[in-house]
Amino acid sequence: MTRLKTIEWNSGSGCVRMIDQTLLPERILYLDITTIEQMHEAIKILRVRGAPAIGIAAAFGLYLGVRVFPDSAGRGEFLAHMENRADYLAGARPTAVNLFWALDRMKKAAHEYTGAQDAAAVKKRLFDEACLILEEDRKMCRAIGEAGFELLGDKRRVLTHCNAGGLAASEFGTALAPVYVGQEKGAKFKVFADETRPLLQGARITALELSEAGIDVTVICDNMAATVMVSGSVEACIVGADRIAANGDTANKIGTYGVALIAAAHGIPFYVAAPSSTFDLTIPDGSHIPIEERGREEVAVWGSKKTVPDGVSVFNPSFDVTPNILISAIITEKGVIEPPFTENINSILSSTK
Ligand code: MRU
Repeated sequence: MTRLKTIEWNSGSGCVRMIDQTLLPERILYLDITTIEQMHEAIKILRVRGAPAIGIAAAFGLYLGVRVFPDSAGRGEFLAHMENRADYLAGARPTAVNLFWALDRMKKAAHEYTGAQDAAAVKKRLFDEACLILEEDRKMCRAIGEAGFELLGDKRRVLTHCNAGGLAASEFGTALAPVYVGQEKGAKFKVFADETRPLLQGARITALELSEAGIDVTVICDNMAATVMVSGSVEACIVGADRIAANGDTANKIGTYGVALIAAAHGIPFYVAAPSSTFDLTIPDGSHIPIEERGREEVAVWGSKKTVPDGVSVFNPSFDVTPNILISAIITEKGVIEPPFTENINSILSSTK
């Protein structure tokens, strides 16, 4: 079984090595990212994508941005530079809160560092923090997988939307983690992957990583999900998340809300799988989540073919918000959160597990 490496630090060449996801599935190309500008571009155009992977990329991106600062600089000067570089990276994409979570965590690590006060020492501290974010993500994915596999019971036919697998995180991903953990335990899953217009993360990325892992995967166009669900072929839907509000309302790839509505209409459980870093407890509900709007060409051009007449407007929101009422449970590394979400999110996330 091949596992594609989403993102890692390459100590040999001192850079971030990551797969260029815009080229999948045709080409598997690993990029060496050496500057913060390259990382900003990679996040913006989705060479690296998926909320947890964006967080990891941002953490290493910030390190790349500060490592060029003179080692001999004083702490104050260095911290001002770091804040400026963090603001720059924060502008890459607006919805996945993991981007801001990782940058805040990095900044906090630098500000609270009590060791040697020169820039070189704080840089080292930031590098260590980025490595820790990556390592913790691996563990979180596995814990989500264990909890999700248990929650699924004997359900083996699942539908997912977009890509919330290993290529969206460091190892197992979130929504696909129960499938990978189950596979290790001998369970045989059948996964329906929505193709996920307009950028086809489901068809290009989910289908690739599942098939590489030897898991039975069938791609469907987004508008086929109702047909597949009414036929009785799906026992559960599992999706990832880009930001979860304090009441459980969940932003995820555009089309997720529709999947949740169809699942509810057919009495199929709809699960969200996400690490605690994807929760934004500063916002009470989903209406406060900033939704990224992307360019016209993603919808109006197919390869080199025009699919929409010139002059016709296009609306291209990249995410939607699924209201908590449609969510059966949220699977986190700290355990499964069931309704009522506001109370339970608070108590499970504040546990030290
Ligand atoms: O625009 P993308 O490809 O970054 O969107 C990704 C998603 O919506 C994922 O489902 C989400 O980030 C969760 S990834 C574990």
